[in-house]
Amino acid sequence: MAYDEIYARWKNDPEGFWMEAAEAIDWVEKPSRALFDGNAPLYEWFADGKVNACWNAVDRHVEAGRGEQIAIIYDSPITHTKRWISYVELRNRVAQLAGALRARGVEKGDRVIIYMPMVPEALEAMLACARLGAVHSVVFGGFAAHELAVRIDDCKPKCIIAASCGIEPGRVVHYKPLLDGALEHAEHQPEFCVILQREQEVAKLEEGRDVNWHGFQYGVEPADCVPVEGNHPAYILYTSGTTGQPKGVVRPTAGHLVALNWSMKNLYNVDPGEVFWAASDVGWVVGHSYICYAPLVHGNTTIVFEGKPIGTPDAGTFWRVISEHKVRSFFTAPTAFRAIKREDPKGEFVKKYDLSGLRTLYLAGERADPDTINWARDQLKVPVVDHWWQTETGWAITGIPMGIEQKKVKIGSSGLPMPGYDVQILDEAGHPVGPDTLGAVAIKLPLPPGTLPTLWNAEDRYRKSYLEHFPGYYETGDAGMIDADGYLYIMARTDDVINVAGHRLSTGAMEEVLANHPDVAECAVIGVADDLKGQLPLGLLCLTKGVNRPESEIVRECVDLVRGEIGPVAAFKLAVVVDRLPKTRSGKILRATMVKIADGEEFKMPATIDDPAILDEIAAALKTIGFPQG
Ligand code: COA
Ligand code: AMP
Repeated sequence: MAYDEIYARWKNDPEGFWMEAAEAIDWVEKPSRALFDGNAPLYEWFADGKVNACWNAVDRHVEAGRGEQIAIIYDSPITHTKRWISYVELRNRVAQLAGALRARGVEKGDRVIIYMPMVPEALEAMLACARLGAVHSVVFGGFAAHELAVRIDDCKPKCIIAASCGIEPGRVVHYKPLLDGALEHAEHQPEFCVILQREQEVAKLEEGRDVNWHGFQYGVEPADCVPVEGNHPAYILYTSGTTGQPKGVVRPTAGHLVALNWSMKNLYNVDPGEVFWAASDVGWVVGHSYICYAPLVHGNTTIVFEGKPIGTPDAGTFWRVISEHKVRSFFTAPTAFRAIKREDPKGEFVKKYDLSGLRTLYLAGERADPDTINWARDQLKVPVVDHWWQTETGWAITGIPMGIEQKKVKIGSSGLPMPGYDVQILDEAGHPVGPDTLGAVAIKLPLPPGTLPTLWNAEDRYRKSYLEHFPGYYETGDAGMIDADGYLYIMARTDDVINVAGHRLSTGAMEEVLANHPDVAECAVIGVADDLKGQLPLGLLCLTKGVNRPESEIVRECVDLVRGEIGPVAAFKLAVVVDRLPKTRSGKILRATMVKIADGEEFKMPATIDDPAILDEIAAALKTIGFPQG
């Protein structure tokens, strides 16, 4: 069947479409229907079914006689380690870990924070929670103690599972001291912490609170899978909003399983038994959906890659992994390709490897610029599919469903809507606009299975952030347009979220940190264009009256402050002192205008600006730190 037919089939009979997709999942009790709309505009899927995510990701493949198939390949150029874990081995390891957690009181509905680097144990921890019906919340290792503490206080975990350390090029990231620091700041305290001691750094355990990953599993009964309701939260994943308080995206269990499983063949075009690789991190949604759950639920082999696209040891690492492990579909962020292209523009490393098994490259997480797409396609000689989605949706909103039909790829576009998504472009008043017209990208409710039903402990915020601006729609926070053939083009965010190396960050959160510096009276953080990372944060600082310390000293302290509070992943290294910030007459800081000045783009003088002369001052200050570049 062609894409158009499948999309139309969904549109004409969404209930039938999703009930059929649900047949690919093992249910303890089958759901009576797909959509539950009794509480609209809040929706649920498969709510009265009973299911277990770990069973579907692990045990069922063993039961089906495929236990010897490799489930996880761990390839860590940064530690010179490789490991292969079969489905049966994974089942045994996860059941044992789940048994140990249960023996210490972790039960269905309890939250468990996971703070781990890219090691297979991170997936095992996620799956062990799923086995018990416990709700995991993975925190990315590049976040600092404060961010971890905020998440601990929000989701109140019974237990935290962490590794002793992570490894970044040239340095060991001391996870355990970061965890200890977070627990000093957090009001909520977990009952216990499980620490995976890595040989690169053995951490000191706190008597009475911390247990050793291996030790605490000794002699316990392995746990069976606990059936949960279809709408039971599988996990909470915090993502950046406009303020310093991250949003806890809730992922419901059944819809997640159905949608992810559907996407593996239809979008990513892999069959069970084939190798699928998403080079991301378990701390991001790509890692949840496409390193852990989707490939395993679909019976693929997934790769846990601990390294970087360049420097571990060179710009050929990705090609080595693809050829050595026979990767069929590969998914990463455009930034990774920009980094490789910069190191190896002629593709000398590409030539060294046999990449003939690779079928398609998938890019997401940030805008894919045409240069990068063309370079990737020319080097790898496979179609390059840009696809667009968000932490909130958990799987692609638009893309080219290569397993259905190899529709034309249009460079600059992130493709066509997946079944389940009715994507529309709206004007400010909420009316749909015609083709090729820029507007807010919105999705007609209900969103499909697998997407967020609400925010953790924050239903009001969910309604306000996503549902209220355009009644009847989910507001994505992106701006873009749709062409006459139905292809979507994402152009920019409509809020203060920026995208740095494929990592979603809040400028508002950085402003909150900077405002705490005693010498900073007022500040703004904007996202400026960067050739490698797409965007970089840049701080504009107004100092408190009477401060006469060297500005460079204050700037350095501010950079350290953001790194210390939010973490190195913020990549906050640019800041400049200014006398005043440009504002509208009602006092709103004109961030978008400052972005245009920093990027050297034309801009229209905002009609509501209070004092246009301030823009010249901003331009002069930015010039002192090399903006606009080039
Ligand atoms: N734990 C601790 N620190 C981390 C970390 C982690 N898991 N991940 C990143 N960091 C640190 C980095 O070491 C770096 O620190 P530094 O300022 O001391 O150098 C900082 O956070 C910024 O990291 P990053 O943005 O990744 O930049 P980089 O300069 O280290 O690497 C790239 C550049 C392009 C190679 C890298 O950004 C990359 O691989 N990006 C792909 C992004 C991706 O997969 N996104 C997921 C969405 S699909
Ligand atoms: P995250 O929740 O971290 O996945 O970030 C989601 C945001 O990243 C989206 O709202 C977009 O702003 C951006 N994004 C993700 N994928 C794409 C893409 N293919 N093209 C353009 N922007 C993207």
